[in-house]
Amino acid sequence: MPSPLSSAEIIQLGEKYLMQTYRPLPLVIESGQGARVIDADGRSYLDFVAGIAVCSLGYGHAELVGAIQEQAGKIVHTSNQAFNEPSVRLAEALCQNSFAERVFFCNSGAEANESLLKLARRAFFKTDPERYEIICMDKAFHGRTLGTMSATGQAKYKDGFGSLLPGFKVVPYGDVDAMRAAFSSKTAAVIMEPILGEGGIVKPPQGYLQDVRHLCDEHSALLLFDEVQTGIGRTGKLFAYMHENIIPDAMALAKGLGGGMPIGAMLTTDKLGEVLEFPVHGSTFGCNPVATAAGLVVMKHVATPAFLAHVSKMGLYLESRLLELKKQFSRLILDVRGLGLFYGVECALDTNSFRKDALANGLLINFCGQQVLRLSPPLVIDQASLDEGLDILAMLLLQYNK
Ligand SMILES: Cc1ncc(COP(=O)(O)O)c(C=O)c1O
Repeated sequence: MPSPLSSAEIIQLGEKYLMQTYRPLPLVIESGQGARVIDADGRSYLDFVAGIAVCSLGYGHAELVGAIQEQAGKIVHTSNQAFNEPSVRLAEALCQNSFAERVFFCNSGAEANESLLKLARRAFFKTDPERYEIICMDKAFHGRTLGTMSATGQAKYKDGFGSLLPGFKVVPYGDVDAMRAAFSSKTAAVIMEPILGEGGIVKPPQGYLQDVRHLCDEHSALLLFDEVQTGIGRTGKLFAYMHENIIPDAMALAKGLGGGMPIGAMLTTDKLGEVLEFPVHGSTFGCNPVATAAGLVVMKHVATPAFLAHVSKMGLYLESRLLELKKQFSRLILDVRGLGLFYGVECALDTNSFRKDALANGLLINFCGQQVLRLSPPLVIDQASLDEGLDILAMLLLQYNK
């Protein structure tokens, strides 16, 4: 093993050798416990990001760590030439706790959404091959592959890559009339996030998701939900569609599902599952036993009424304190919106320097959209930790208000 490097050396190596696709903070994370991460110099930070809505059970969760270690000690990869127990048990747990009857495992949110797009485009292939169009949302974010990039209106992700996939119609999020007008005999599906994530944590208007469900039914089109960020308890229900008394035809998961292990999944019904028959779809690392062993622990904890009640309770508390901050700093905070432990705070301030100042004061935060502070702490966070982080935010807002 090479001797340990200092933080400065690690950052220097990263800046030299990693592609510059991100803008990381000057921070080297070495370990974590609960809702805190510790840097390479032993400094502790309260984490309101959770690896971008990933580390659902927080850090150093003994059962999660134990399951990963135990499975890694047995075998780390099997390929899909054989079955393994963690993946079939996780598929069972996901089906038993959702509308779904079939699961396809992959490695990321983009790959799970690619699976949705392939499912939709192939669903009518034998009966109505002209029917392959997919309606998507202008501020959506579904991933960085060429397919998922085609399913958004956001130019900042799409520009410069030549022509993307044909057959996508972009409509404004929340506008049911525009959605109605976009349907045609070619419409195979609608793909959407039940709450916009990267687009700025935007909840749709009351009744919108139900209207979209009805439109899909009227046109025999599929409703595809991207629950990569909203799924696995983030909004206080196991899946965000459960707030609305509707069910999608297929759904993509990733982020929180593995508690930090890379995993994605597409969930759908028995009948639709048949669309992606052998050999039209697959993924070498899908059904990975270590990732799915982690997912099983996540599901065991998150898919319980007590855990989800905790998320809802903490979410309501978070919202009440954010609304107080909005009242106090009305010049800097323009809007507060979200559900569960998934909140956006639209701000009028220099987000880059605010993020760095938060770091200097021991708080990890992150912005999505242009000016929206995204709060997505580990789902296990307690009220005292929420208060600690919110107090740091309040102190910074006071400084920025001068
Ligand atoms: C709603 C949504 N879908 C898809 C993705 C892409 O997931 P991944 O980065 O794992 O490919 C993201 C990532 O932020 C997301 O928020």
